[in-house]
Amino acid sequence: MSEKGNKLRSAEWFGRKGKDGLIYRAWMKKSGIPNHYFRDKPVIGICNTWSELTPCNSHFRNLAQSVRDGVIEAGGFPVEFPVMSLGETLMKPTAMLYRNLASMDVEESIRANPVDGVVLLCGCDKTTPSLVMGACSVDLPAIVVSGGPMLTGKFRGASISTSDGWRFADKVKTGEMTFEEMEEAEGSMCRSDGHCAVMGTASTMACMVESLGLSLAGNAAIPAPDMHRKLIAHHSGMRIVEMVNENQKMSDILTRKAFENAIKINTAIGGSTNFVVHLLAIAGRIGVDLSLDDFDELSRDIPLLVNLQPSGEHFMEDFYYAGGLPAVIKELLPVLHTDVITAAGSSVNKLYSDAPCYNPDVISTFDKPFKEETGLAIVKGNLAEYGAVMKPSAATPGLLIHKGRAVVFEDIEDYKERINDPGLDVHPDDILVLKNVGPKGYPGMPEVGNMGLPKKILEQGISDMVRISDGRMSGTAFGTAVLHVSPESADGGTLALVQNGDIIELDVPNRKLILHVTEEELAERRKTWNPLPLHMGRGYWKLYQENVLQAHLGADLDFLRGKSGGEVKRDSH
Ligand code: FES
Repeated sequence: MSEKGNKLRSAEWFGRKGKDGLIYRAWMKKSGIPNHYFRDKPVIGICNTWSELTPCNSHFRNLAQSVRDGVIEAGGFPVEFPVMSLGETLMKPTAMLYRNLASMDVEESIRANPVDGVVLLCGCDKTTPSLVMGACSVDLPAIVVSGGPMLTGKFRGASISTSDGWRFADKVKTGEMTFEEMEEAEGSMCRSDGHCAVMGTASTMACMVESLGLSLAGNAAIPAPDMHRKLIAHHSGMRIVEMVNENQKMSDILTRKAFENAIKINTAIGGSTNFVVHLLAIAGRIGVDLSLDDFDELSRDIPLLVNLQPSGEHFMEDFYYAGGLPAVIKELLPVLHTDVITAAGSSVNKLYSDAPCYNPDVISTFDKPFKEETGLAIVKGNLAEYGAVMKPSAATPGLLIHKGRAVVFEDIEDYKERINDPGLDVHPDDILVLKNVGPKGYPGMPEVGNMGLPKKILEQGISDMVRISDGRMSGTAFGTAVLHVSPESADGGTLALVQNGDIIELDVPNRKLILHVTEEELAERRKTWNPLPLHMGRGYWKLYQENVLQAHLGADLDFLRGKSGGEVKRDSH
């Protein structure tokens, strides 16, 4: 029984009499754990994504220890378990291909074991949505502890981080930087534990869980090496025991109102475009009705308050010193649902109404925002019937209304082969179109949507062009990139039918993306269009390509949407 008299789920294992209970308990005791240490106590799973192949999460063993201390202090019994960890920098063809697989691991690991609640240790980009998605499908009490961003990188007196990686690569292409200088810079970029130090996808995900109410206040921005990161891990360990005692499940927190708050807050922080595809997938798991249109409608009147790279100039460390996400949420209180209850057990209003801002240059006010343009826009038209995503705050203002000639690449190999060809017929006003990089097409919807510009364009001093694809863009990247085009080209979307020289019109203020080709001509082209064959005829890739949903539905696997709860239907003991 919990403190409040609820029957603990773990009692189905450790509370049994006879042979079954004996086996469950005996194998716990083999590590020297006495009876009183775990019997009749909330058992708290610590779901750990530590891996040396996920460098952003390499400090998670220490973080887990702080969670353990908190759980024990509050009267719970901590059990740490590993799940598939997704390292953004190393995994091929893209970590996104494995987000849904990792979520299955998380879901089944939680359900199959005697845990009453879970602490999700999330860091590098996909480790957050995969853990949250999997946990949602079990729907036990759960709280997120994020790993925190790295300290700001320093190179020759300048502050740098992941976003500079794109700039350095372009400079090497044009000869403004040597390869040796780039090597020196890369050694200065990641100077501490933690994830990317800008408002990239990992930081966006950390802000997302705090905005949804799945973490304690202040979780998002504390740098990984800061002692406050360990403190919040400890307090989260304490709080999850209370959540089990109160039976506060994920579905009690993740209401439609919580999702609406998260969308508004993401707009104000200039969060990554990846936020859209992950939030849609999470909503699909917990059973909240959310559509692509909601992102546009809910973010329309919210300005960009936060001056952080890649939309601005500062870093996550500066964001933390300026007050972090609590200062942003306080500024947004008039437009948020302030009565929603978070994992802290308190309302948004109570948690954030006194949050201070220490640096208005980093966190501006609603009345005098950093930028008026909204963080995300959803554009639609015959080229993206179900919608496409773009980030006006990271784009070139002069390209937000643009008509140009399509320069088409059929797939990523075609792009790599021809992009720097001096004979490529391309001009600065053209629009680069990349096909077959969507969920099915790549497979896994890689972050190639902000494709690098042709060398001959860069040499003219041009740093941005309109780029359109069914792929994603790294949260650390920038540029006028129209992403997540749905339906994707590999699924027969109109994108598959675009040819060199077609005229495309992008009109972000009016949310339009139009291919100026007649319906008759498109119907003719469709007659000769054939889908690409599966990249691999077996294993997980096959399962993924046959079952993945389109980007506007979150690119989850169709059979994973929804939840099955925490009950284990069959019992062999
Ligand atoms: Fe892990 Fe950027 S590579 S967060």
